[in-house]
Amino acid sequence: MNPHVLILGAPGAGKGTQSDRIVEEFGVEHVTTGDALRSNKQMDIGHLGLEYDTPGEYMDQGELVPDEVVNEIVEKALSDADGYVLDGYPRNLDQAEHLSDITTLDAVLYLDVDEDVLVERLTGRRVCEECGAAYHVDFNPPEEEGVCDKCGGDLYQREDDTEETARERIRVYEENTAPVVEFYDDVGSLVRIDGEQTPDEVWDDVKMALEEHA
Ligand code: AP5
Repeated sequence: MNPHVLILGAPGAGKGTQSDRIVEEFGVEHVTTGDALRSNKQMDIGHLGLEYDTPGEYMDQGELVPDEVVNEIVEKALSDADGYVLDGYPRNLDQAEHLSDITTLDAVLYLDVDEDVLVERLTGRRVCEECGAAYHVDFNPPEEEGVCDKCGGDLYQREDDTEETARERIRVYEENTAPVVEFYDDVGSLVRIDGEQTPDEVWDDVKMALEEHA
């Protein structure tokens, strides 16, 4: 059976970047709530009687999409996957409890990065609208400005990657998701990785941790 990997870290810590490499190396699926919700930003959730009627209204303000919407997406995605790297979930303790009810994890990785570095990474990120590959204007620029190296698609800036929304996402992370990191740390399953190294150096540590734990 392929490994079940959870990757934790603040917005911009490099979860997506390292998940892509895990997928390539270990042949698992990338289950990411952020991407799943971005593809369903306009989905009508009005019947749930929540504050907003679509996931996009929460996302564009940097707030969490309600658990009842996200839990269902994750449950379906994990039941369809043999092995996976789960990125963007759980983001609060209720989601962590739900996750332990529906699957077992082989490894939990945490990418540790300071807030100022996160903001710099988020505001400089550019994403391919065709294949989803992520670049950075300074740290990982494409060969031709605005064009994806992998597929030639156009690069765009995510709506929640403005400085104001990025800082709000980090605040929401500290309030809701930092306790999730402590939760896995307390049960002894967390591997801390210095996420401020170069992407290749982070990858060396991620790969070593997975070879040991997964
Ligand atoms: P989501 O898409 O999950 O965003 P996030 O957690 O904020 O994480 P990011 O994708 O922004 O960052 P990342 O860690 O993947 O960094 P990346 O590798 O791209 O969520 C978006 C929204 O959806 C949420 O705000 C919420 O509304 C909603 N949502 C999602 N899940 C939810 C849930 N479970 N419950 C409720 N709501 C949910 O890297 C960032 C940049 O840095 C890139 O430009 C990259 O090139 C660069 N970079 C990466 N690594 C390095 C490095 N080592 N050195 C230098 N640069 C680097």
